Amino acid sequence: MCSLVWRSASKSPQMSMELYSGPRSVQTCALSQSLAAVLSPASELLTCVSQQAMVLCHFLETNRDKYNLTDKNVIELGAGTGLVTIVSSLLGAKVTSTDLPDVMGNLRYNVMRNTKDRCKYIPLVTELTWGQEVEQRFPRATHCFDYILAADVVYAHPYLDELMDTFDYLCQENTQILWAMRFRLDPENSFVDRFRQRFHLEELYDLRTSLSIKLYRAWRKDKTSKDQGEAAA
Ligand SMILES: C[S@@+](CC[C@H](N)C(=O)[O-])C[C@H]1O[C@@H](n2cnc3c(N)ncnc32)[C@H](O)[C@@H]1O
Repeated sequence: MCSLVWRSASKSPQMSMELYSGPRSVQTCALSQSLAAVLSPASELLTCVSQQAMVLCHFLETNRDKYNLTDKNVIELGAGTGLVTIVSSLLGAKVTSTDLPDVMGNLRYNVMRNTKDRCKYIPLVTELTWGQEVEQRFPRATHCFDYILAADVVYAHPYLDELMDTFDYLCQENTQILWAMRFRLDPENSFVDRFRQRFHLEELYDLRTSLSIKLYRAWRKDKTSKDQGEAAA
C-alpha cells in the first residue's frame, strides 16, 4: 500500500499524517484522488494543500498522454507543502521545487518522505523568492525548463509584479506554464489580464462555478499555438 506522509507548516509543525492510496506503489492517480477524498473542504489541511494544487495534480495524472512529464525538466513556483512537486516527481519529471526560505524545512521533509526510492529523479528543493536573484540562481543557459508549474500563487500578496517577472524570466521559447488560479477579488484577478499581455493563455479547466478555479496553459507570445500544441503532444 502506498502512503503519503504529510507535515504541515501551520499550527502544528510536527503534525504528520498518512494518506493511503491504492495497492500499486506509484499509483499517482489514486494518490491524489485519495487526497481529495481525505481532505474535505472543512479540513484544516486544506489550508496547507490548496484545491488548486489538487486540480493541477489531477490534470497531470489524467493527461499523461498529452502532457508526459517523464524525463522533463520541471520547476514549481511557490510549492508550499509540495503536493504538485511530489506528484510530478512520481510521474517521472526532474523537478526543481521552489518556495521562500522559511518553508524549506517542511517542503524538503514532505518531498523527501514521499519521493524517496519511488521516483526516477530525486527532486531538488531550493529557495526561490520571486524576483530576487533569479538570473543568478537560474541562468537561462543551464536552466531550461519544459514546464513551469504553479498552484495558488496569485492572491493578495505584494509580490505579484515579482511573480510575473519570474514567470517571464523562467519561461523560455519551448517552456509551457501550467497554472491553477483561484479567482478572488479584482486586484488579484486582474493578474490574469496582465499575464495575457505577455503570454498566450489557454483554459484547460474552467471550474469557476464550483471552485472559482481555472487551470491555464501558457506559453511565450513569440511562440505560435500550433508549435506548442505539437510540442505538447
Ligand atoms: C497559497 S500557497 C500555495 C502553496 C501550494 N502551491 C499549494 O497550492 O498548495 C502560496 C505559496 O507561495 C509562496 N510564496 C509567497 N510569496 C512568495 C514569494 N515572494 N516568493 C516565493 N514564494 C512565495 C508561499 O510561501 C506559499 O508556499
